[in-house]
Amino acid sequence: MRELIKRLPKVDLHCHIDGALRTRTIIELAQLQNYKLPTYDEEELKKYVTVSKSCRSLSEFLEKFEIFYPLLKDREAMKRVTYELIEDAKKENIVYLEARFAPVLQSKEGLNMEDVLKAVLEGKKLGEENFGIKCGIILCVYRGQPPESWYETVELAKKYKDKGVCGVDLAGDESRYPAKDFKEVFELAQKYNLNITVHAGEAAGAESIRWAIDLLGAKRIGHGVRLKEDRFLYERVKNAKIPLEMCPTSNVHTEVVPSYKKHPIKEYYYDGIRVTVNTDDRGVSDIDLSYEWEVCIDEIGFKLEDLLDMNINSIEAAFLDESEKNRIKELIQNQTSEILKGRKNDF
Ligand code: ADE
Ligand code: ZN
Repeated sequence: MRELIKRLPKVDLHCHIDGALRTRTIIELAQLQNYKLPTYDEEELKKYVTVSKSCRSLSEFLEKFEIFYPLLKDREAMKRVTYELIEDAKKENIVYLEARFAPVLQSKEGLNMEDVLKAVLEGKKLGEENFGIKCGIILCVYRGQPPESWYETVELAKKYKDKGVCGVDLAGDESRYPAKDFKEVFELAQKYNLNITVHAGEAAGAESIRWAIDLLGAKRIGHGVRLKEDRFLYERVKNAKIPLEMCPTSNVHTEVVPSYKKHPIKEYYYDGIRVTVNTDDRGVSDIDLSYEWEVCIDEIGFKLEDLLDMNINSIEAAFLDESEKNRIKELIQNQTSEILKGRKNDF
């Protein structure tokens, strides 16, 4: 099944560039930059930079990023990791990718947020050309960072809209920084007509999803796991067809859910919520999208046809213009039926 899933054309809407680093690349960047790592052995380093079973919380999960963040405050590094993410996506036939990052986390004295974005856009362009994948960049306003950086992020998203940036997000530790505190900056994003997605209902309750929609103008919700805690909001999200960018392994790793079996994604999908399946942090979780599809089938109990249907939800929810969306949707449908031809009894 893994081989079949790998070949099928897929869409990943929720993928953090910094969370997608290859362990080998962390080592090579450290060697290039004379940066001290706890170990230079790939298998050993994996223990520091990836999560295999479970952290106790999102906060603990995000601490894993701290080891390699200093390495990313560098133009070449950001260009490279963006390029490598697209290369990895190609290996499992991702045909459309939305990759996100928070420019403030990779900036430093002498390297401003726009410099970092330019480096990412260079890596994206090269990756798109070499691997034939369409990729949009989402800029994350980051919880816990200074308010000036929130506004600068939104201004950058406006400046680079239609020049590679397809939207803005609110990321970081939701348990400590509630969505409602970002109302004003997201009002600006709405004024600029930016596509908005917000991490909500991951490390905080349904109220956070309500703030994301009503105060921040979110058109999609990152995770939204805890939506069912508010039945009224649940019905609203369902009727308004607001897509949830769900990432089951990430939620197991951050203990948002105790196990795959207890993840609400299947219940949501069968009840008519617009669900999509995504990776979140490929490197830190040590997964790819094919793995997510596999656990959806093996652990959560989906059928392959459900995944194909959620894949269509993804392209329909993409921050893309209609003609591009239709082109990629057609490509997905054609490739999928070609690959599945004569395999009807395999699943
Ligand atoms: N940044 C990287 N992964 C994240 C997650 N799961 N939630 C919020 N911010 C993140
Ligand atoms: Zn995320």
